[in-house]
This record gives sequence, C-alpha cells and structure tokens, in this order.
Amino acid sequence: MSENKRIVLSSDHAAIGLRKAIADYIQTKGWDAVDIGPITSESTHYPKHGAAAAHKVASGDCRFGIILCGTGQGIMMAANKVKGIRCGVCCDPFSAQMIRAHNDANMLALGARVIGDGLALEIVDAFLNTEFEGGRHETRVEMISSLEQ
Ligand code: RB5
Repeated sequence: MSENKRIVLSSDHAAIGLRKAIADYIQTKGWDAVDIGPITSESTHYPKHGAAAAHKVASGDCRFGIILCGTGQGIMMAANKVKGIRCGVCCDPFSAQMIRAHNDANMLALGARVIGDGLALEIVDAFLNTEFEGGRHETRVEMISSLEQ
C-alpha cells in the first residue's frame, strides 16, 4: 500500500455538507484530508473543481481524490479529462470496491442529491479499503491509459 495518505476532496455548491462530512470521516480512518473547497454554498461550476482535484491526484500530490456534485456525474466527467485519472461515480459499496479492484480507480465521485450521508460513508470505506488486483486487470487499465495518447 502507498505511503501517501493524502486524499483531495472537492465539490460544487450542491455537495458542501457531504464533502465536509467525508473529510472529517476519513481523518478518523487515518487519512489526511486535503479539502480544496469551495467553502461557501454559492453557485459554482463543477468542472473547475473536478479538474483542480484531478490535478492533485495526477501529479502524485494526493493518493486519491473524492469529488462530489449533485449527481456526481458532471464532476466525474471533468476529472476524467485529466491524464492519468480514472474516476467513477458510485451509488453503492460494491461498485466502489470494484472500481478499485478491477479498474484501479484513483478518484471516486459521489452524488449528494442521490445518496444519503450514511451510504456515502459506506461507499467511501469500500473504495479506500480495496486494493487493485492487478493481473489481467492491469492489461485493461493499460488499455484505458493508451487512449490518452
Ligand atoms: C448543479 O445544479 C448540478 O448540475 C451539479 O451539481 C451536478 O449534478 C452536475 O453533474
């Protein structure tokens, strides 16, 4: 397991409260929450927040990223435009487990208007407690990366 315990968090205005709850939660699990905001619930644009978080993961500054918007979908799309990012929206713990185990996802997107806080924390746990399995999945992840060239 990587020594980098830093997890970047970002969101748009639709998910400020859940983002803060997740930041507090992951700290209790031994992770270092790097919450890059925004701080107020003033309407903002999810692509810039998804991209800012993605760059922190792609650069290696943070091991993982957790990003949120109303559905998780828009901010996920923005993050996946950054080279090296593999981000999936999850609404259930099984999917969160599998995007780590099979897809080596380095970012998790959540929809604050879709899931409740309790489920969100279970999804976060599943994501952070699952290792990439490698093997045949390595080839497929490399195929995803090759699409970035
Ligand atoms: C904001 O109203 C909303 O569009 C955004 O949070 C997100 O759901 C977009 O994908």
